[in-house]
Amino acid sequence: MRLSSPKINLITKLCMKASRSLIRDFGEIENLQVSSKGPGDFVSSADKRTEKILIDELQKAHPDHGIVSEEYGIINGSNISNRWIIDPIDGTMNFLNGIPQFAISIGYEENSEIKCGVIFNPISNEMFYAEKGCGAYLNNSRIRVSNKKKIKDALIVTGGPKYSSKIKDKIFSEYIRVSKNVSNVRKLGSAALDLAFVAAGRFDAYWQRELNYWDIAAGVIILRESGGFVDFIEDDKNFPLKKNILASNSNIHEELRELITKKDIE
Ligand code: IPD
Ligand code: CA
Ligand code: CA
Repeated sequence: MRLSSPKINLITKLCMKASRSLIRDFGEIENLQVSSKGPGDFVSSADKRTEKILIDELQKAHPDHGIVSEEYGIINGSNISNRWIIDPIDGTMNFLNGIPQFAISIGYEENSEIKCGVIFNPISNEMFYAEKGCGAYLNNSRIRVSNKKKIKDALIVTGGPKYSSKIKDKIFSEYIRVSKNVSNVRKLGSAALDLAFVAAGRFDAYWQRELNYWDIAAGVIILRESGGFVDFIEDDKNFPLKKNILASNSNIHEELRELITKKDIE
């Protein structure tokens, strides 16, 4: 690890520990007991097992901190300004289909500001991490966003809509508008890794509607610390855990926002 701090050390070690059973489960996907949370949205026993390890260990290390976790929900700590935001498996659909594009994502927040985060893909063994003011890293190397300046040359990643989405038409029309005006658009199925890939310069930008806070909490700080820019399109203040995100290398940010929210560029 190039960046060493108590919080980063804790969560990177935690990811390694929790990933052991995840790797085993990934190797035996057919045997996993899968239950449906609703159309298009599955939860596996691997998800719950990983989450339990993460919550138990975080509570051991910081008994007073709060936790927001996808499956378990909100655990209020006695200390209201510090909380951990966990997605035990981001990219569940990939995981369940044997596609090695999924990650454990852990973000840490103080007074509503994300201070550090880790995104770990245990199959590719890629650990993305960052702490405010200290830069962003992939394993032992510093990462930076791409330098692409023209949106027509950009490779962009997005995701959704979910089966249950009520705004599918809007999402598809945005997808068409962006696709027509950039080099290409990909959908890889893990919001956390999508953000980490923009941070590492593999993609030039990422946007997606109808995300949850745990999908992106760690990715936001990793992206910012890699020199990128992230903000939220048309956020609803009444639902602070729901997010419509726009993240980029910062050069193409406004042009992309224009494309998403308005009209075709000539
Ligand atoms: C999902 C992934 C996916 C995104 C979905 C998320 P999950 O998280 O991040 O890329 O398109 O909106 O719900 O369910 O795999 O943790
Ligand atoms: Ca998940
Ligand atoms: Ca997720």
